[in-house]
Amino acid sequence: MRMDKLSIDDLDLKGKRVLIRVDFNVPLDKGKVTDDTRIRASLPSIRRVLKQGGKAILISHLGRPKGKIKEELRLTPVAERLEELLKRRIRKLDDCVGGEVKEAVSELREGEVILLENLRFHKEEEENDPEFAKQLASLADFFINDAFGTAHRAHASTVGVTKFLPSACGYLLKKEIEYLGKVLSNPERPFIVILGGAKVSTKIGVIKNLFGKADIFIFGGGMAYTFFKARGVEIGRSLVEEDKIELAKEILIEAIRKGIPILLPIDHVVADRVAADAKVKVVQRLGIPPDWQAVDIGPATIAKFGHAINKGRTVLWNGPLGIFEIEPFSKGTFTIAKLLAESKATTIVGGGDSVAAIAKIGLTDRMSHVSTGGGASLEFLEGKELPGVVALSNKGGR
Ligand code: 3PG
Repeated sequence: MRMDKLSIDDLDLKGKRVLIRVDFNVPLDKGKVTDDTRIRASLPSIRRVLKQGGKAILISHLGRPKGKIKEELRLTPVAERLEELLKRRIRKLDDCVGGEVKEAVSELREGEVILLENLRFHKEEEENDPEFAKQLASLADFFINDAFGTAHRAHASTVGVTKFLPSACGYLLKKEIEYLGKVLSNPERPFIVILGGAKVSTKIGVIKNLFGKADIFIFGGGMAYTFFKARGVEIGRSLVEEDKIELAKEILIEAIRKGIPILLPIDHVVADRVAADAKVKVVQRLGIPPDWQAVDIGPATIAKFGHAINKGRTVLWNGPLGIFEIEPFSKGTFTIAKLLAESKATTIVGGGDSVAAIAKIGLTDRMSHVSTGGGASLEFLEGKELPGVVALSNKGGR
């Protein structure tokens, strides 16, 4: 996808009301934001609007309330965190459309910020209802989409509003598309793709789209065991998607036909159950005992994968290589994260769990790019067009 879309830098925002779609769908615990990565990632665009003398009207969803008001999904904790980060007062409203919202927006002065309530309290948001989109659009002069994480959803606040307002991408959206787009169009080689996580089903589209683009694939995590099963290897009680075994076979055959190396673990950390106090041992590739489950890659695999990673000029990583949330099963994921952090390659990490893993050990800033999109980054890497991006105004008019 070429970035020929109108950008925040193309707009003269002085004195203008600017509707900014952000993705503040962040984890909460007891009314507090537990990971503010997405809020921080939205700051450059918000700051730009304020610095130019614009009036910022922020909109976001939070969770999946399915058109109903859910008290625990109000954006109030997000407003509090945003206030701390921006170091200015945020006026948080109790709805995103209606009289009170219109009035508050009409009182908004240059350099001020309003955060509207969770868009998904209205079912019309996910239905991409034109009337609802029109109401949102009527609040502003310009629309900026900076919600990369939601760009794969064709909703009123991502697609609908663009029918009524000049619509530009924000800095975050632009950066995401540039980094991920380069991986698809022109990666520096060797290009290494590391895929992990529990399920192969969520990665199939990415594997297929990157066949012919990646130089080496590395598979770890739960999804690797569907491939082992496809090869007839005994995997004990390790994760497997029975209905994807045939597909895994096809992928392995196609890789051989095309001469694309797929690296699978050569040893495994296995446990007798998934718990921090489980019995744990390292076994060779073919040695998983019947009642045990693979929970991490073993030391020989770490060395082998590390060797491949060191050759890379571009490394894309999506999905952890073991159950890293449990300390005895975390070494593979954390060591690979450290190798990426030390690598001179362009390193791009996507997917909620691998992003959480690198954040847990403080390596987020050591990667070239950490995507804020889970589903959105996967769909983009599958080669799909993201409706929230497609809908933006083209440079030089539609
Ligand atoms: C995400 O967290 O992936 C985005 O905010 C999209 O959320 P959704 O899957 O509920 O649409």
